[in-house]
Amino acid sequence: MSGATIIDGKAIAAGLRADVAASVERLGREHGVMPGLAVVLVGDDPASHVYVRNKDRETRAAGMASFEIKVPATTTESELLAIITELNARDDVDGILVQLPLPPHIDSGRIIEAIDPAKDVDGFHPINVGRLASGQPALVPCTPLGCIILAKSVQANLTGLEAVVIGRSNIVGKPVAQLLLAENCTVTIAHSKSRGLPEIAAGADLLIAAVGRPELIRADWIKPGAIVIDVGINRVPGEGGKSKLVGDVHFEDARRVARAITPVPGGVGPMTIACLLRNTLTAAAARRGIALAI
Ligand code: GUN
Repeated sequence: MSGATIIDGKAIAAGLRADVAASVERLGREHGVMPGLAVVLVGDDPASHVYVRNKDRETRAAGMASFEIKVPATTTESELLAIITELNARDDVDGILVQLPLPPHIDSGRIIEAIDPAKDVDGFHPINVGRLASGQPALVPCTPLGCIILAKSVQANLTGLEAVVIGRSNIVGKPVAQLLLAENCTVTIAHSKSRGLPEIAAGADLLIAAVGRPELIRADWIKPGAIVIDVGINRVPGEGGKSKLVGDVHFEDARRVARAITPVPGGVGPMTIACLLRNTLTAAAARRGIALAI
């Protein structure tokens, strides 16, 4: 194989945002409902502020209401729980996202469990985790959902594929494995401590890399003709003293072997916010018992 298809996450995300915006417009016209997303940011981590600003802009652009709740790093766990309780009760808030990571004095598990599962647009609440694992309708984590949409843009039916997920986080590895099972893949979850990682990866028709190691995955880890979805976003030293972003996959290596591959940046990254908007729309409709074909 020479020359993989480069999966254009930016364009696919733009298409998804446009679909969401059209459904939001219809929800308003037919039901008088405007979905609302509340994002809670604790402290002043610069990267988190950038994410939250982007979420706010995209939420408004899709025609939804955006509420930003920014509180200092000194906020206590019980103060944050009180904010969640208030957002749970508000009818104009359909989605609640608490930006992670939280300061170390706050137990993020307790905060996530306090969110109304019907408003848990991150899909991190144990109720949604359990629903996904048992095949019931659930709010599903955004980055994993984005990975599946990108893989299906290459091959609409993933049934029977050998899928290998490298990474076992609650945010990406575990939920993406559940989604792949639901797509009828044979799923292997490997991670940084797995023995024989290159051989495991080389068995994959569909490889999802979410391990957080810059350019770990080289050409000989990839089965010729595989679909490669790279979730990694790693900042490494670049030319002229500047830094650059690379994935968990060595892109130039992999594109010579794979059938299709996502770039970093411009692959999975743009899909995350688009899927968050989709989840907010889904939550807004589901909370009101409105059937929506998104
Ligand atoms: N921080 C990094 N990724 C995420 C995410 O998907 N959701 C939340 N809430 N915080 C994050």
